[in-house]
Amino acid sequence: MSFRIQPAAPARPNRCQLFGPASNTKLFAKMATSAADVINIDLEDSVAPSDKDSARANAIEAINTVDWGNKYLSVRINGLDTPYWYRDVVDLLEQCGDRLDQIMIPKVGCAEDVYAVDALVTAIERAKGRSKQISFEVIIESAAGIAHVEAIAAASPRLQAMSLGAADFAASMGMQTTGIGGTQENYYMLREGAKYWSDPWHWAQTAIVAACRTHGILPVDGPFGDFSDDDGFIAQAKRSATLGMVGKWAIHPKQIALANQVFTPSEEAVNEAREILAAMEDAKAKGEGATVYKGRLVDIASIKQAEVVVAQAELIAKN
Ligand code: COA
Ligand code: MG
Repeated sequence: MSFRIQPAAPARPNRCQLFGPASNTKLFAKMATSAADVINIDLEDSVAPSDKDSARANAIEAINTVDWGNKYLSVRINGLDTPYWYRDVVDLLEQCGDRLDQIMIPKVGCAEDVYAVDALVTAIERAKGRSKQISFEVIIESAAGIAHVEAIAAASPRLQAMSLGAADFAASMGMQTTGIGGTQENYYMLREGAKYWSDPWHWAQTAIVAACRTHGILPVDGPFGDFSDDDGFIAQAKRSATLGMVGKWAIHPKQIALANQVFTPSEEAVNEAREILAAMEDAKAKGEGATVYKGRLVDIASIKQAEVVVAQAELIAKN
């Protein structure tokens, strides 16, 4: 480990973030009783420009009146390139009670975007004597966002989570696809005439995971657009979990159980992790730094890997 210790990410489950447009009020009660860990009420791209004011009012009313149970409650504000975002922040912070946990900032392109929202939020919190500090999450969904991802991750102590937004990211990067996440038809390797599909989102995900882990932030995979394709969702989510992401968005309720299943370590994985920890305890007692578990090497790094799995399982079981 470097002299600078890697900070821990916030200790709360973030396996699934369920989105719903604030213009569709009949969804609020359904979102509140869903099995998602995090709720994202959307004021941004699922709300038409003509509905921005009414959607904002709906969101505030729902935050203050619906029973959200123990869900982490977040609102996606409009982007900093729009005329709406400042009013989103002012009204949310001035009119919502302490039930509001978090603001999601979309299309973040540089650390100063986060700084600007932080300055406004901080002023309102002080003016209104709000005791609970609002946290932030951001979406990396542009070329600038991924180019500046590490600076963005370091931009504010309020920052708790960072998602990859595949659709806007693809558009900003000029990618030739209209798919939102998952396998892309034209992204393949060819060997002896057979096609092997590769993952065009992989590098952006790993960049996000590295920036997040450096700064103690939760890395999250964003939307999977084709909600009729359960297998495609699960495959994408499993890749994200393998890379170190802690959860994924749901843009339809049927994706919630899929995300929860993938991002909850299986009993088998937890048992194996506990066995590795036990094997390493035995090795340590014998003065050895490495041993053999099921025919493979385990050493001191394996303890840390196994602890990640056990810690995740314990965190989820506690909530
Ligand atoms: N949260 C909670 N419940 C939802 C929901 C959501 N996001 N989306 C749909 N439902 C409910 C419906 O109300 C319906 O309930 P019912 O059985 O009581 O009638 C049920 O789930 C089945 O919905 P379905 O008919 O399959 O979908 P739909 O046509 O009503 O809605 C979408 C489809 C995609 C428009 C809708 O799911 C949606 O708005 N998703 C979120 C979009 C979003 O927020 N995007 C921004 C982030 S990318
Ligand atoms: Mg977007």
